Amino acid sequence: MRLLLATHNRGKRREWQALLTGLPVELLLPDDLGLSGEVEETGETYLENALLKARTLGAASGLPTLADDSGLEVDALDGAPGIHSARYRLGADAVRYRALLRALEGVPPEKRTARFRCVAALVLPDGREFTTEGVCEGVIATEPSGEGGFGYDPVFYVPEQDCTMAKLSDETKNRLSHRARAAQALRAVLLAELL
Ligand code: IMP
Repeated sequence: MRLLLATHNRGKRREWQALLTGLPVELLLPDDLGLSGEVEETGETYLENALLKARTLGAASGLPTLADDSGLEVDALDGAPGIHSARYRLGADAVRYRALLRALEGVPPEKRTARFRCVAALVLPDGREFTTEGVCEGVIATEPSGEGGFGYDPVFYVPEQDCTMAKLSDETKNRLSHRARAAQALRAVLLAELL
């Protein structure tokens, strides 16, 4: 079965490819179908944005379509950058995570708690929609470390692994991340509804 993954984010793309391995689905990307435009994320929640992306590309392709909307919620910043994580600052990932470290300068470790959240939406050609959510708790480090992953991974310390998310192997990140948890629930939906 062909499944469209509605993202142009290379980090997300690589992770979803790994997270759906073993399922008899052929994962296609928008570029494979000549769908190169970005869907504007005008929603006010992860759920709205995930559905917006999955519905838009599902309608354009006629294929079952999966999208995720995700972000980093920092308690000391009242949940920011949250749904605005990708747009927190213009530029490369490092520009954004360095801006985050500056915003938290002087904030003690016990107040640097944060979580990644991921909402995944699956929209089927017959109009049925399924959504799942995953969360991963952590702490914002005081300096970046690690080369893996993407986005804010170098500054997201995972207490149970005693290192940042950027230092985890792909295998470990894909076991405990917010996206992994959303994907686990989604695999069950895919198996039940599509295969
Ligand atoms: P969006 O879902 O396309 O709106 O973008 C989510 C943004 O949240 C990404 O661009 C990253 O900045 C951040 N993000 C989401 N998931 C992760 C992750 O697994 N690691 C690091 N940053 C992430």
